[in-house]
Amino acid sequence: MIRTIFKGSGSALPKRVVSNDELAKTVDTSDEWIRERTGIAQRYIAGEGETTATLATDAARSALDNAGLTISDIDLIVLATATPDQTFPATATKVQHALGGAGFPAFDVSAVCSGFLYALATADSMIRAGMAKNALVIGAETFSRILDWEDRATCVLFGDGAGAFVIGSEEVAEDGPGLLASQLHADGEYSDLLFVDGGPSSTGTVGHVQMKGREVFRHAVTNLAQVLNDVLNKAGVEASSIDWVVPHQANLRILDATARKLGLPMDKVVVTVDKHANTSAASVPLAFDTAWRDGRIKRGDLVMLEAMGGGFTWGASLFKI
Ligand code: UT7
Repeated sequence: MIRTIFKGSGSALPKRVVSNDELAKTVDTSDEWIRERTGIAQRYIAGEGETTATLATDAARSALDNAGLTISDIDLIVLATATPDQTFPATATKVQHALGGAGFPAFDVSAVCSGFLYALATADSMIRAGMAKNALVIGAETFSRILDWEDRATCVLFGDGAGAFVIGSEEVAEDGPGLLASQLHADGEYSDLLFVDGGPSSTGTVGHVQMKGREVFRHAVTNLAQVLNDVLNKAGVEASSIDWVVPHQANLRILDATARKLGLPMDKVVVTVDKHANTSAASVPLAFDTAWRDGRIKRGDLVMLEAMGGGFTWGASLFKI
């Protein structure tokens, strides 16, 4: 059977690391509050010359190297971001050009923190429909540029970065590798719980992130538990067979609550929120790449990717690596 298989991953982070203590010098917060409520110890913040497109390009280059492929092997780029370099063109086209590619489709998807799951399911569908052979799927963000640095309820939570997968179509046996099942959801009823108060068609400004954190937290745990079970049912797999869960890295307490609902121990959950904070669409591929490169995730492993974010949007994908 034809499936979309994982070929390699990569990631990129800005040069500057900002610790909780450094943040507490300019914002009314403390290392203790941030660690206790979120698990975050530090975040990376983009400096001059570092943008969503440059981080995405670096992550894509490293994913191509990891897959043993070059841009000439790629015929699709899907890039998830809520912080594009410009309103248009799509950041994906800038990445395509920076990598030396041309001609094939390259576009952005907007689903905020679930963006990578949306991009992955889109690229997988196009691959299985025969519209592409090998795709770069990228999650990249510079959320630091849309934060209100005087709002302690949001500015301590986010960071910048990018992660990328190379995926491609392959003839495999039924018990072979590949993307086994995906499920996506959205519910616009909750758009005022997590949003940016600006945009080209409304205010003509970029705006800042606004969040009712406690309510988002509550919905996240319920929605994620539901979508994870849906994907397991679709794939006909028991939760106990999962080798690794790679969740969206928003809050250690959400990761813990979701793992508990699945009956999985925390030592099967990849945690990078302490180092990267919440990097929105970049967080799942960044966390995956960390565990792939340090040898925790191996070929043959069953890996669940999941995320929930503004919209609300949420989704999950089960990948046999
Ligand atoms: O990526 C998309 C998905 N996003 C998420 O999943 C985020 C989900 N939400 C969360 O992670 C948590 O709700 C937060 C980390 C955002 C907040 O944690 P919380 O335990 O829900 O705290 P809270 O918002 O209820 O605030 C508790 C207290 C408040 O003080 P009072 O009213 O109890 O006196 C806040 O003013 O903590 C205060 N506070 C802070 N204190 C020190 C809020 N932010 C800070 C801060 N430093 N940075």
